[in-house]
Amino acid sequence: MTPFMNSTPTPSAADDPRCIPIKLTQPLPVGDACEYPRYTALDHHLWRTLYERQEKLLPGRAADEFLTGLATLDLDSHRVPALADVSARLHRATGWRIARTPGLLDAGDFFGYLAQRIFPCTDYLRSADELDYTPAPDCFHDIFGHTPMIVHPRFADFYQKVGQAALRCGTNFHLFEGLTRIYWFTVEFGLIKNPGGPRIYGNGIISSSGETLHSLSGKAQIHPFLPGVVAQQPYDIWHFQERLYIVSSFEELESSFDAWCRKNAIA
Ligand SMILES: [Fe+2]
Repeated sequence: MTPFMNSTPTPSAADDPRCIPIKLTQPLPVGDACEYPRYTALDHHLWRTLYERQEKLLPGRAADEFLTGLATLDLDSHRVPALADVSARLHRATGWRIARTPGLLDAGDFFGYLAQRIFPCTDYLRSADELDYTPAPDCFHDIFGHTPMIVHPRFADFYQKVGQAALRCGTNFHLFEGLTRIYWFTVEFGLIKNPGGPRIYGNGIISSSGETLHSLSGKAQIHPFLPGVVAQQPYDIWHFQERLYIVSSFEELESSFDAWCRKNAIA
Protein backbone atom coordinates (compact mmCIF):
# COMPACT_ATOMS: atom_id res chain seq x y z
CA MET A 1 0.00 0.00 0.00
CA THR A 2 1.15 3.45 -0.73
CA PRO A 3 -0.49 6.83 -0.86
CA PHE A 4 1.09 7.26 -4.27
CA MET A 5 0.59 5.58 -7.61
CA ASN A 6 3.11 3.56 -9.58
CA SER A 7 4.64 4.96 -12.70
CA THR A 8 2.79 4.39 -15.93
CA PRO A 9 3.21 5.32 -19.57
CA THR A 10 -0.14 7.14 -19.77
CA PRO A 11 -2.10 9.47 -17.51
CA SER A 12 -5.39 7.68 -18.23
CA ALA A 13 -5.39 6.24 -14.71
CA ALA A 14 -6.17 9.67 -13.32
CA ASP A 15 -9.84 8.84 -13.79
CA ASP A 16 -9.59 5.34 -12.30
CA PRO A 17 -11.77 5.15 -9.16
CA ARG A 18 -9.15 2.87 -7.58
CA CYS A 19 -6.82 5.87 -7.56
CA ILE A 20 -9.11 8.04 -5.46
CA PRO A 21 -7.85 7.98 -1.86
CA ILE A 22 -10.24 6.65 0.77
CA LYS A 23 -10.67 8.67 3.97
CA LEU A 24 -11.35 6.18 6.74
CA THR A 25 -14.40 6.50 8.97
CA GLN A 26 -13.57 3.43 11.06
CA PRO A 27 -10.40 1.48 11.90
CA LEU A 28 -9.11 -1.16 9.49
CA PRO A 29 -9.05 -4.84 10.51
CA VAL A 30 -5.54 -5.78 11.68
CA GLY A 31 -3.72 -9.15 11.79
CA ASP A 32 -6.02 -12.08 12.50
CA ALA A 33 -9.04 -9.85 11.88
CA CYS A 34 -8.15 -9.77 8.16
CA GLU A 35 -10.40 -12.38 6.56
CA TYR A 36 -9.17 -14.45 3.62
CA PRO A 37 -11.13 -13.45 0.50
CA ARG A 38 -12.78 -15.95 -1.85
CA TYR A 39 -10.10 -15.76 -4.52
CA THR A 40 -10.78 -17.24 -7.94
CA ALA A 41 -8.51 -19.65 -9.79
CA LEU A 42 -7.60 -16.71 -12.02
CA ASP A 43 -6.50 -14.66 -9.00
CA HIS A 44 -4.12 -17.42 -7.91
CA HIS A 45 -2.91 -17.81 -11.49
CA LEU A 46 -2.17 -14.07 -11.71
CA TRP A 47 -0.31 -14.16 -8.38
CA ARG A 48 1.78 -17.13 -9.53
CA THR A 49 2.54 -15.51 -12.88
CA LEU A 50 3.65 -12.23 -11.29
CA TYR A 51 5.63 -14.01 -8.57
CA GLU A 52 7.48 -16.32 -10.96
CA ARG A 53 8.33 -13.47 -13.31
CA GLN A 54 9.86 -11.33 -10.57
CA GLU A 55 11.51 -14.33 -8.93
CA LYS A 56 13.52 -14.80 -12.14
CA LEU A 57 14.34 -11.10 -12.57
CA LEU A 58 15.33 -10.12 -9.03
CA PRO A 59 18.47 -12.17 -8.19
CA GLY A 60 21.42 -9.90 -8.97
CA ARG A 61 19.10 -6.89 -9.19
CA ALA A 62 17.24 -6.72 -5.86
CA ALA A 63 18.94 -5.80 -2.59
CA ASP A 64 20.21 -8.70 -0.51
CA GLU A 65 18.02 -7.41 2.30
CA PHE A 66 14.91 -7.74 0.13
CA LEU A 67 15.78 -11.28 -0.96
CA THR A 68 16.51 -12.25 2.66
CA GLY A 69 13.18 -10.76 3.76
CA LEU A 70 11.36 -12.64 1.01
CA ALA A 71 12.97 -15.90 2.14
CA THR A 72 12.13 -15.17 5.78
CA LEU A 73 8.48 -14.51 5.00
CA ASP A 74 8.38 -17.69 2.89
CA LEU A 75 5.43 -16.38 0.90
CA ASP A 76 3.39 -18.92 -1.05
CA SER A 77 4.35 -18.46 -4.68
CA HIS A 78 1.37 -20.43 -6.02
CA ARG A 79 -1.53 -18.98 -4.05
CA VAL A 80 -2.36 -15.49 -2.87
CA PRO A 81 -1.12 -15.38 0.73
CA ALA A 82 -3.47 -14.57 3.61
CA LEU A 83 -2.83 -11.14 5.12
CA ALA A 84 -3.30 -12.63 8.61
CA ASP A 85 -0.45 -15.11 7.96
CA VAL A 86 1.88 -12.48 6.51
CA SER A 87 1.05 -10.22 9.45
CA ALA A 88 2.00 -12.93 11.96
CA ARG A 89 5.33 -13.57 10.20
CA LEU A 90 6.09 -9.86 10.01
CA HIS A 91 5.22 -9.44 13.66
CA ARG A 92 7.67 -12.17 14.64
CA ALA A 93 10.39 -10.48 12.61
CA THR A 94 10.11 -6.78 13.49
CA GLY A 95 6.89 -6.23 15.45
CA TRP A 96 5.02 -4.90 12.41
CA ARG A 97 1.48 -6.03 11.59
CA ILE A 98 -0.74 -5.78 8.53
CA ALA A 99 -4.12 -4.08 8.23
CA ARG A 100 -6.49 -4.85 5.37
CA THR A 101 -7.33 -1.72 3.38
CA PRO A 102 -10.11 -1.63 0.77
CA GLY A 103 -7.95 0.48 -1.56
CA LEU A 104 -5.74 3.53 -1.85
CA LEU A 105 -5.77 5.29 1.52
CA ASP A 106 -5.88 8.94 2.36
CA ALA A 107 -2.25 9.93 3.01
CA GLY A 108 -2.95 10.99 6.61
CA ASP A 109 -4.62 7.66 7.41
CA PHE A 110 -1.82 5.75 5.68
CA PHE A 111 1.00 7.50 7.53
CA GLY A 112 -0.95 7.19 10.79
CA TYR A 113 -0.84 3.41 10.45
CA LEU A 114 2.86 3.40 9.57
CA ALA A 115 3.53 5.39 12.74
CA GLN A 116 1.99 2.47 14.69
CA ARG A 117 4.10 -0.15 12.85
CA ILE A 118 1.03 -1.28 10.91
CA PHE A 119 1.22 -1.66 7.13
CA PRO A 120 -2.10 -1.11 5.29
CA CYS A 121 -2.32 -3.76 2.60
CA THR A 122 -4.82 -4.49 -0.16
CA ASP A 123 -6.05 -8.07 -0.66
CA TYR A 124 -7.19 -7.94 -4.28
CA LEU A 125 -5.23 -8.48 -7.47
CA ARG A 126 -4.98 -6.45 -10.64
CA SER A 127 -6.84 -7.75 -13.68
CA ALA A 128 -5.27 -10.08 -16.23
CA ASP A 129 -4.67 -7.24 -18.70
CA GLU A 130 -2.74 -5.26 -16.06
CA LEU A 131 0.15 -7.67 -15.52
CA ASP A 132 2.75 -5.13 -16.60
CA TYR A 133 1.20 -2.11 -15.03
CA THR A 134 -1.59 -1.22 -12.62
CA PRO A 135 -2.36 2.36 -11.65
CA ALA A 136 -3.72 1.37 -8.25
CA PRO A 137 -2.20 -0.64 -5.41
CA ASP A 138 -2.88 -4.37 -5.45
CA CYS A 139 -1.75 -7.17 -3.17
CA PHE A 140 1.14 -8.22 -5.39
CA HIS A 141 2.64 -4.76 -5.03
CA ASP A 142 1.75 -4.60 -1.34
CA ILE A 143 2.66 -8.11 -0.19
CA PHE A 144 5.44 -9.14 -2.57
CA GLY A 145 6.82 -5.64 -3.06
CA HIS A 146 6.54 -4.09 0.37
CA THR A 147 6.54 -6.65 3.15
CA PRO A 148 9.98 -8.28 2.61
CA MET A 149 11.75 -4.98 3.27
CA ILE A 150 9.82 -4.54 6.54
CA VAL A 151 11.55 -7.71 7.77
CA HIS A 152 14.82 -5.76 7.87
CA PRO A 153 15.15 -4.12 11.33
CA ARG A 154 16.72 -0.84 10.17
CA PHE A 155 14.31 -0.41 7.28
CA ALA A 156 11.37 -1.32 9.55
CA ASP A 157 12.38 1.45 11.96
CA PHE A 158 12.94 3.93 9.12
CA TYR A 159 9.50 3.13 7.72
CA GLN A 160 7.83 3.81 11.07
CA LYS A 161 9.75 7.08 11.39
CA VAL A 162 8.43 8.21 8.02
CA GLY A 163 4.90 7.76 9.35
CA GLN A 164 5.70 9.57 12.60
CA ALA A 165 7.38 12.44 10.78
CA ALA A 166 4.42 12.80 8.39
CA LEU A 167 2.04 13.24 11.31
CA ARG A 168 4.31 15.94 12.76
CA CYS A 169 4.22 17.98 9.54
CA GLY A 170 0.81 19.26 10.62
CA THR A 171 -0.38 21.96 8.24
CA ASN A 172 3.08 22.57 6.78
CA PHE A 173 2.25 21.41 3.26
CA HIS A 174 5.69 22.26 1.86
CA LEU A 175 7.37 20.05 4.46
CA PHE A 176 4.82 17.27 3.93
CA GLU A 177 5.45 17.42 0.19
CA GLY A 178 9.18 17.04 0.83
CA LEU A 179 8.48 14.03 3.00
CA THR A 180 6.35 12.40 0.30
CA ARG A 181 9.20 12.91 -2.15
CA ILE A 182 11.59 11.21 0.26
CA TYR A 183 9.06 8.38 0.59
CA TRP A 184 8.79 8.09 -3.18
CA PHE A 185 12.53 7.97 -3.84
CA THR A 186 13.24 5.51 -1.00
CA VAL A 187 10.37 3.20 -0.10
CA GLU A 188 9.04 3.06 -3.64
CA PHE A 189 12.06 3.71 -5.88
CA GLY A 190 15.18 3.40 -3.74
CA LEU A 191 18.50 1.81 -4.68
CA ILE A 192 21.29 0.59 -2.39
CA LYS A 193 24.98 0.10 -3.10
CA ASN A 194 26.36 -3.41 -3.37
CA PRO A 195 29.90 -4.57 -4.28
CA GLY A 196 28.37 -5.97 -7.47
CA GLY A 197 26.65 -2.70 -8.40
CA PRO A 198 23.41 -0.90 -7.52
CA ARG A 199 20.61 -3.04 -6.14
CA ILE A 200 16.88 -2.29 -5.86
CA TYR A 201 15.02 -2.02 -2.59
CA GLY A 202 12.16 0.28 -3.73
CA ASN A 203 8.90 -1.62 -3.85
CA GLY A 204 7.54 0.32 -6.81
CA ILE A 205 10.44 -1.08 -8.82
CA ILE A 206 10.51 -4.55 -7.30
CA SER A 207 6.84 -5.27 -8.02
CA SER A 208 7.14 -4.15 -11.68
CA SER A 209 9.11 -6.07 -14.30
CA GLY A 210 9.38 -2.99 -16.51
CA GLU A 211 10.69 -0.76 -13.71
CA THR A 212 13.07 -3.53 -12.58
CA LEU A 213 14.72 -3.68 -15.99
CA HIS A 214 14.63 0.08 -16.58
CA SER A 215 16.09 1.08 -13.21
CA LEU A 216 19.41 -0.70 -13.80
CA SER A 217 19.56 -0.28 -17.57
CA GLY A 218 21.78 2.78 -17.44
CA LYS A 219 18.95 4.99 -18.70
CA ALA A 220 18.14 6.33 -15.24
CA GLN A 221 20.50 8.83 -13.58
CA ILE A 222 21.60 7.51 -10.17
CA HIS A 223 22.47 10.10 -7.51
CA PRO A 224 23.59 9.81 -3.86
CA PHE A 225 20.66 9.95 -1.45
CA LEU A 226 20.63 13.30 0.35
CA PRO A 227 17.26 13.93 2.07
CA GLY A 228 17.49 17.72 1.71
CA VAL A 229 18.01 17.35 -2.04
CA VAL A 230 15.41 14.63 -2.53
CA ALA A 231 12.80 16.66 -0.64
CA GLN A 232 13.13 19.32 -3.37
CA GLN A 233 12.93 16.87 -6.26
CA PRO A 234 9.49 16.53 -7.94
CA TYR A 235 8.66 13.13 -9.38
CA ASP A 236 6.71 11.92 -12.37
CA ILE A 237 4.20 9.20 -11.57
CA TRP A 238 3.30 8.62 -15.21
CA HIS A 239 6.59 7.42 -16.65
CA PHE A 240 9.56 5.27 -15.80
CA GLN A 241 11.74 7.08 -13.29
CA GLU A 242 14.60 8.96 -14.94
CA ARG A 243 16.25 9.92 -11.65
CA LEU A 244 16.95 7.53 -8.79
CA TYR A 245 18.78 7.87 -5.47
CA ILE A 246 21.15 5.38 -3.91
CA VAL A 247 22.08 4.79 -0.25
CA SER A 248 25.20 3.05 1.04
CA SER A 249 23.31 1.20 3.76
CA PHE A 250 20.00 1.22 5.58
CA GLU A 251 21.84 2.59 8.62
CA GLU A 252 22.78 5.59 6.46
CA LEU A 253 19.21 5.89 5.19
CA GLU A 254 17.83 5.97 8.72
CA SER A 255 20.48 8.31 10.18
CA SER A 256 20.30 10.79 7.29
CA PHE A 257 16.51 10.81 7.53
CA ASP A 258 16.74 11.36 11.30
CA ALA A 259 19.01 14.36 10.69
CA TRP A 260 16.61 15.81 8.10
CA CYS A 261 13.70 15.40 10.53
CA ARG A 262 15.65 17.12 13.33
CA LYS A 263 16.56 19.99 11.03
CA ASN A 264 12.88 20.43 10.16
CA ALA A 265 11.63 19.95 13.74
CA ILE A 266 9.62 16.83 12.96
CA ALA A 267 11.89 14.28 14.69
FE1 LIG B 1 3.76 1.05 -2.61
